[in-house]
Amino acid sequence: MKIAQVMVIGAGQMGSGIAQVCAENGYEVFLHDLKEEQTKKGIAGIEKRLQRNIEKERITEQDKEQTMKRIQASTKLENAGKADIIIEAAVENMEVKKTIFRQLDERAAEHAILATNTSSLPITEIAAVTSRPEQVIGMHFMNPVPVMKLVEVIRGLQTSDETYEAVADIASSLKKTSVEVNDFPGFVSNRILMPMINEAIYTVYEGVASPEDVDQVMKLGMNHPMGPLTLADFIGLDTCLYIMETLHEGFGDDKYRPCPLLRKYVKAGWLGKKTGRGFYQYN
Ligand code: NAI
Repeated sequence: MKIAQVMVIGAGQMGSGIAQVCAENGYEVFLHDLKEEQTKKGIAGIEKRLQRNIEKERITEQDKEQTMKRIQASTKLENAGKADIIIEAAVENMEVKKTIFRQLDERAAEHAILATNTSSLPITEIAAVTSRPEQVIGMHFMNPVPVMKLVEVIRGLQTSDETYEAVADIASSLKKTSVEVNDFPGFVSNRILMPMINEAIYTVYEGVASPEDVDQVMKLGMNHPMGPLTLADFIGLDTCLYIMETLHEGFGDDKYRPCPLLRKYVKAGWLGKKTGRGFYQYN
C-alpha cells in the first residue's frame, strides 16, 4: 500500500509531534483540530522545535522550510478523503474517540487506515464503530514524538495483517522502532508505567516523601532519566487519570485505583506542564 498523505486529528502535544515527524520524513500532512487557535499553537510548536534544530545544526533552514510546506492545518474534516492514513491524537476519552472514528469512517477513502494514538483505550471497541475494523489499529507514539524512538503498534481483534504491516512500515519510515502488542488495557507501556506513577502519587498523598524526594529516589536510586512525578506533569495529569481509570475498569483490580490526590489535582485544573501547575510549578 502506498502511503503519501497523512492526516493527524488533534494538534496538541502528541498530534503536533506526529505531524512534524511525518512531514520531516516526506509525507504530506493535514493537521486537524477543533479550533484554529489549537492548530496555530500546534504549528507554532513545530516551528519552534525545527528552529531549535537549526540552531543545533541538526537541520538546515531549507529542511525547515520543506517540512513546514508539507503541513496544512485545518479545522474542518474536508481533507479526510485525501488521506491514506489518519492518525487520531485527540483527548484520551472513549466517547470523543468514537465520535471522531464514526466521522472519519464516513469521510475517509475506502483504502485508508484509521489509526489511534490512544495511550490505553481498547482499539477493538474504537474499531467497532466503523465499517472497516480490519483497517483500524493503535499507533502509540511516545512523548516527545520527535525524540522518542518507540511506537507501540496495537492490533485490535479484527486488525488485518496488511494493516499491521503497513503501519509497521510507516513507523520505520519515520525512523522509529515498533513493537507488536495485543489489545489489552494500557497495552505494554502504560500497564507498566502508570501504576508506577500512581504509586509515586500515593507516596506523596500518604506523606511518605515530597514530590522532589520521590523523584530523586527514582532518578538517583533507580537510574531513571526523569522522576515519575516530573514525568506525570509532562504527560498531563488528566491523561494519567484517564489511563488509570481505563486500567482499573479493564482489569477490575483495586491495585489500579487512581490515587485521590491525582483526582483532586485534575479537578483543580492542575494538569501539569501544559497548564503551568501539577506536582511542580512552571512559568
Ligand atoms: P493534548 O491535550 O495536548 O491535545 C489534545 C488535542 O486534541 C487538543 O488540541 C484538542 O483541542 C484536540 N481535540 C479534542 N477533541 C477533538 C476532536 N473531536 N477533534 C479534533 N481535535 C480534538 O493531549 P495529548 O497529550 O496530545 O494527547 C492526545 C492523545 O495522545 C491522547 O489519546 C493521549 O492519551 C495520547 N498520548 C499522550 C501521551 C502524552 O505523553 N501526553 C503519550 C502517548 C499518547
